[in-house]
Amino acid sequence: MIGYKKVTGDMDLSGRTAIVVGGAGGIGEATARMYAHKGAKIVIADCKDTCGEVADAIAEEYGVQAIGIKTDVTCQESVDALVDETVRTFGEINILAAMPGVVDLYRAADIDIANIEKHIAVNAVGVFRVAQACANQMIRQGKGGKIVCVTSQADFIAINKHVGYTMSKAALVGMIKVCALEWAEYGINVNGVAPTVVNTYMGEKAWQGKVKTDMIDRIPAHRFAETDEIAAAVLFLSSDESNMITGEDLVVDGGFTIY
Ligand SMILES: NC(=O)c1ccc[n+]([C@@H]2O[C@H](COP(=O)([O-])OP(=O)(O)OC[C@H]3O[C@@H](n4cnc5c(N)ncnc54)[C@H](O)[C@@H]3O)[C@@H](O)[C@H]2O)c1
Repeated sequence: MIGYKKVTGDMDLSGRTAIVVGGAGGIGEATARMYAHKGAKIVIADCKDTCGEVADAIAEEYGVQAIGIKTDVTCQESVDALVDETVRTFGEINILAAMPGVVDLYRAADIDIANIEKHIAVNAVGVFRVAQACANQMIRQGKGGKIVCVTSQADFIAINKHVGYTMSKAALVGMIKVCALEWAEYGINVNGVAPTVVNTYMGEKAWQGKVKTDMIDRIPAHRFAETDEIAAAVLFLSSDESNMITGEDLVVDGGFTIY
């Protein structure tokens, strides 16, 4: 059961340990910074070599404990080591923000099956691997927890040359719903945040030139999102303020999917 807890609107995370997968840049780093601002202990997990540097910068800026653990979500041993090291260092895991992501652009007629499988291995199975490992730790702890996955506007609309990415994110939405259903009895909320284009490495890779200006014209807010705007939605779904929300995929898209 996900119990009732009176909330204040502060979204306070002090005393909680949060793992941010995909945390060494982009939306992940913005999320880790917002969690730290709310007092959480931070684990930066990413396949990049810079996890430790990002963690050190956050620890210094926000005065919280933060560590970096290089992690590849396509490797079970790597994810098991992430959970073990987090528990050894901080005692428990209370929040998982899972947003490792890859995108390659091909038309559906041309894409190799291997590239479809690469998207699914990271964006869907990789996220499940880390969600399962963290949920099992949360279940052992017996105090509930929060799992937030970053999905995409691709959950709701068709986007040219995004077939591999869209297949992987659609799988992720299905995973969120089933895990939310099964893990509610342990007090674990599982949700998604579905952004429009965000100004990050990935956003710039997929949206350039005329494709970019055409896309901005179609977004009622008339711009792409910034990383802190997505992090704020992830923070809400990681806090007690959202205890009654589970299995949801919250769109943050400046109105793009109104149509
Ligand atoms: N930027 C956008 O326009 C946009 C829009 C919608 C959704 N998203 C989603 O947001 C999430 C964050 O993306 P971002 O925009 O911050 O881009 P990003 O490229 O900065 O972040 C993705 C991170 O995932 C990490 N990663 C990739 N493969 C990994 C693996 N095997 N194991 C561990 N980490 C791995 C990368 O190193 C990177 O730090 C992604 O899931 C992406 O699909 C992004």
